[in-house]
Amino acid sequence: MAHEATWHANLKVRLRRLRLSKNMRRLVRETKLTSDDFIHPLFVRHGQGIKLPVESLPGKHQLSVDNLAAEVREISALGIPAVILFGIPEHKDWRGSDNFAEDGIVPQAIRAIKDTDPDLLVISDMCFCQYTDHGHCGIINTPDNPHYDPALPQGYLHNDHTLDLLQQASLAHARAGADIIAPSGMIDGMVAAIRSALDSDGAQHVPIMSYIKYASAFYGPFRDAAESAPQFGDRSQYQMDPANQREAFKEIALDIEEGADIIMIKPALPNLDVLSHLRENYTVPAAAYQVSGEYAMIHAAAQRGWIDLERAALESLTCIKRAGADMIISYFAKDALKWLDA
Ligand code: PBG
Repeated sequence: MAHEATWHANLKVRLRRLRLSKNMRRLVRETKLTSDDFIHPLFVRHGQGIKLPVESLPGKHQLSVDNLAAEVREISALGIPAVILFGIPEHKDWRGSDNFAEDGIVPQAIRAIKDTDPDLLVISDMCFCQYTDHGHCGIINTPDNPHYDPALPQGYLHNDHTLDLLQQASLAHARAGADIIAPSGMIDGMVAAIRSALDSDGAQHVPIMSYIKYASAFYGPFRDAAESAPQFGDRSQYQMDPANQREAFKEIALDIEEGADIIMIKPALPNLDVLSHLRENYTVPAAAYQVSGEYAMIHAAAQRGWIDLERAALESLTCIKRAGADMIISYFAKDALKWLDA
């Protein structure tokens, strides 16, 4: 016994000293969430007076353009600096025409948001999966389309024809007032293609936030919300295999070389290793997307009383920031700020 007591007395380093009280913990806390950290996703569709709940994303809705103002005012009042827009078109076709139409759903929504709050940044998610009838993120090699190339595999996503479409759509969104273009299709060369299109159209001031995106099971609820599930196959011919880390590092390096201003990692929580690599090795701002499945899982477990909604959500967001995110796209953005303020 005597021996034990002496040993204890010699224990000089006691990390628990700084954990004892709430105020002590506040003082030494390394990571704090603030309104500066958040980007709020919005789903917008054609029509009027529409506020359609998305079942798999509790509390989230598809909104028609006329219903955006109220939502935007709430987001701005919480001090959130930016929204990211996802459009749901009325008509889908083989090349996703609504995405580059001047009166397409996203350009309309951008103008409405800017009318309500010109300072709220509008990021446009630049992808074709919501807009194409087959639900893939670009032009697909099938005999019924004019770009069909029998030398390429059937069902192959035509990389370079898709780049042309991404350029057109980026210009339509930038002309409508988008503050940031966020290409999410994992199409090779997408950042360089969009950069050159923007620069040649008087939009050299518009930054590009490029997605580093895995082919993830966690996008399920989003595909309900955006009506963008692929009609055949899956997205693994262009999105990354979740088993790969070096490949993500290569994507980051390439996107920065091509001129990406911000790199976004998605989904967030399963890929904190990639986020942390980005933060430690590059100077560009890092974004993380806490995706629909991450949000839905926390809600589903909380509904059953298995976890505490607020604590689980704030813990996830804090750890995403701790791993290196300068900004987080999250369906919890509004709730998190209300909880932090309470
Ligand atoms: C593609 C896109 C997707 C998400 C954001 N942009 C879906 C996909 O890649 O299948 C998913 C976001 C989420 O799950 O919250 N336009």
